[in-house]
Amino acid sequence: MKQNIIILGTQWGDEGKGKIVDCLTDRVGAVVRFQGGHNAGHTLVIGGKKTVLHLIPSGVLHDGVKCFIGNGVVLSLDALDREVRELNDAGVPALERLFISESCPLILPTHVALDLARERDKGGEAIGTTGRGIGPAYEDKVARRAVHFGAFQDREYGESRLRALIEWHNFLLVERHGLDAFDADEIVEQQFALFDAFKSQCVDVARELNTLRQAGERVLFEGAQGTLLDVDHGTYPFVTSSNTTAGGVGAGCGVGPRHIDYVLGVVKAYTTRVGAGPFPTELFDDTGARLAERGHEFGATTGRARRCGWFDVVFMRQVIALNSIDGLVMTKLDVLDGLESLDICVSYTDANGATVDWPPGTLQDFQACKPVYESLPGWHETTEGITEWDALPENARAYVSRLQELLGVSIDIVSTGPERSANIVLRDPLD
Ligand code: IMP
Repeated sequence: MKQNIIILGTQWGDEGKGKIVDCLTDRVGAVVRFQGGHNAGHTLVIGGKKTVLHLIPSGVLHDGVKCFIGNGVVLSLDALDREVRELNDAGVPALERLFISESCPLILPTHVALDLARERDKGGEAIGTTGRGIGPAYEDKVARRAVHFGAFQDREYGESRLRALIEWHNFLLVERHGLDAFDADEIVEQQFALFDAFKSQCVDVARELNTLRQAGERVLFEGAQGTLLDVDHGTYPFVTSSNTTAGGVGAGCGVGPRHIDYVLGVVKAYTTRVGAGPFPTELFDDTGARLAERGHEFGATTGRARRCGWFDVVFMRQVIALNSIDGLVMTKLDVLDGLESLDICVSYTDANGATVDWPPGTLQDFQACKPVYESLPGWHETTEGITEWDALPENARAYVSRLQELLGVSIDIVSTGPERSANIVLRDPLD
């Protein structure tokens, strides 16, 4: 049995991971977030009802499934509180299913203020962050200044670390950014009140996962964002501040690499990106606008319009290698319905006119690359909700088959709509 399975985004995020995790969750004992924070946005549609999760793993809607937030996640207690309340209002007893690592670095209101101030000061050079304090919180983690969730178990210790961090943030906000300082007493009071609400959720996640593994439970590791937003392997500096690649699992929740049995990549049938940074296959024409409209390409977290473009095989080759991807789920095939023809980017031409089949290492070289396309005929029939391969229009099958051939990796599932049931399963990734 494949016991430990990673699910991650292979592009710039928003590939539809939440739906896939949700579909597979009936057959797992636990779902784990290992990186990122509430910058993620997983939209799930169940029985026509929309639920957007930012921080809590997508498995939370399932009774009997444990949800873990690993140490690699930066934790906003404020966001957690909001999300738990929303789930409770929707009849989901989130806290009964949720466990949080004592080593999660906290995101404070001052992190959010710093994130926004930096973006503002960068002007035209801004990254286009989600403004949730993610980058500043990871900075403090690496600088060994962060306050861990579990530190609050010892009031004196937790409070002294918290006050030292707020003092540092206030110095930056006032002296560097010309803004007002935050009231430290207010933040201390607010953070400890929130901690009290969640302290029984505080566990040693690595240990819990080890126990589950020994008991033979199946665990899904749910990536947030996408590979090209990885702080080491993405389009730096236009990236998020965590490791979104498969390697992030070990560091982000304490499960060793030999215990991972399958890496499932989620890829959109075209490409999107939110925020700034290079995007070789971006479309600026009516087709791009059509993809955005049909695909409802507006961010689940910030509501920003996503940039849209054709499928890019060049960076996918690198993404498959970086993550050791075993199989892919291709989402949103139905969004391509009704196009006359479809382009697939099979190589780039670099600034010197040379053909490139693997993305160049530097941002400047990547930015200079121009896509080289192969064109395939489109289809006019609707594919929405189709669950059988043979029921797809011939040209849709040809498109998926050609991508599988170019990528050299099995496409296990094709998703044909937002509903949980709208999938063509070609190979069961859990078997
Ligand atoms: P941050 O993660 O808020 O620091 O933002 C850094 C970059 O990652 C920006 O380009 C964001 O738009 C992007 N980003 C962060 N989270 C997501 C996500 O869940 N989906 C897509 N893009 C994201």
